Amino acid sequence: VDKTLDLKAEINKLRKEKNALILGHYYQSGEIQDMADFVGDSLALAQWAAKTDADIIVMCGVHFMGETAKILCPNKKVLVPDLNAGCSLADSCPADAFAEFVKAHPEHTVISYVNTTAAVKAVTDVVVTSTNAKQIVESFPADEKIIFGPDRNLGNYINSITGRNMLLWNGACHVHEQFSVEKIAALKKQYPDAAILVHPECKGAVAKLADKVGSTAGLLKYAIASDKKDFIVATESGILHEMRKQCPEKNFIPAPPEDSTCACNECNFMRLNTMEKLYNTLKYEWPEVTVDEAIAQEAVKPIKKMLEISE
Ligand code: 13P
Ligand code: SF4
Repeated sequence: VDKTLDLKAEINKLRKEKNALILGHYYQSGEIQDMADFVGDSLALAQWAAKTDADIIVMCGVHFMGETAKILCPNKKVLVPDLNAGCSLADSCPADAFAEFVKAHPEHTVISYVNTTAAVKAVTDVVVTSTNAKQIVESFPADEKIIFGPDRNLGNYINSITGRNMLLWNGACHVHEQFSVEKIAALKKQYPDAAILVHPECKGAVAKLADKVGSTAGLLKYAIASDKKDFIVATESGILHEMRKQCPEKNFIPAPPEDSTCACNECNFMRLNTMEKLYNTLKYEWPEVTVDEAIAQEAVKPIKKMLEISE
């Protein structure tokens, strides 16, 4: 990229020329969030993708988010600035192994977290995000036999708040598993009045410390409504950008990861997207997300079911 280019101005020009919608997840860098037409959690991004009349969707997030948008809008061009933006949680659930697991439990309804590949969604009955997981699980009768994958922490958490006994896939996110009980407890000593906000992908012991367990959108909503001043935030630290924007008078403290020598509370996949790559993806309409048609035909059903239930 020509270093003299005003990237913001160029991106604004291209998005207009090409009728492109830029969607950004809360875990993107602040400058990318500021460029997005809409910033949201994974549910909101899927909802925006489903209803846009743009010709191009630029998904500033990770690959499975681009896939979900493409499955919902097969006739649109869906771009992700860096296609290497994967997800350790999605990777912890290979489609063939998951399909075998499903086959081995034929009497079960299959509920999958949105953080999965299209091929996993293709063997799923209904998709959930962390915003609607409880609501969707509870839309089934109390004695329904359910497989829940791939996040064991979210699954355990939903089991604990609904009294269900869903069969869990043993997957996890490497960013959320990093948060340590000891370090959060030490921070709480320093800020005794702070509210502790925890994403349900964190380990159960961390969730136990929480004043609020919720999705990125849920934690943001809680922070806005709360009359507390200090918040310790145990999720990817990109969310602090929107929290600080919405509540400039409040103090948001990112929970430190176990390994304090690295910025492990930043998702290395999410952070692959940069302003330069966003500019290039709009200019060259590349790289494009594609989904095998036969897989997409199956995967669209559980995604649409989720959108119907969470309307
Ligand atoms: P939400 O935005 O739905 O809370 O998801 C968190 C996440 O890890 C997305 O990758
Ligand atoms: Fe996946 Fe975790 Fe990154 Fe979210 S934070 S995209 S779950 S690796």
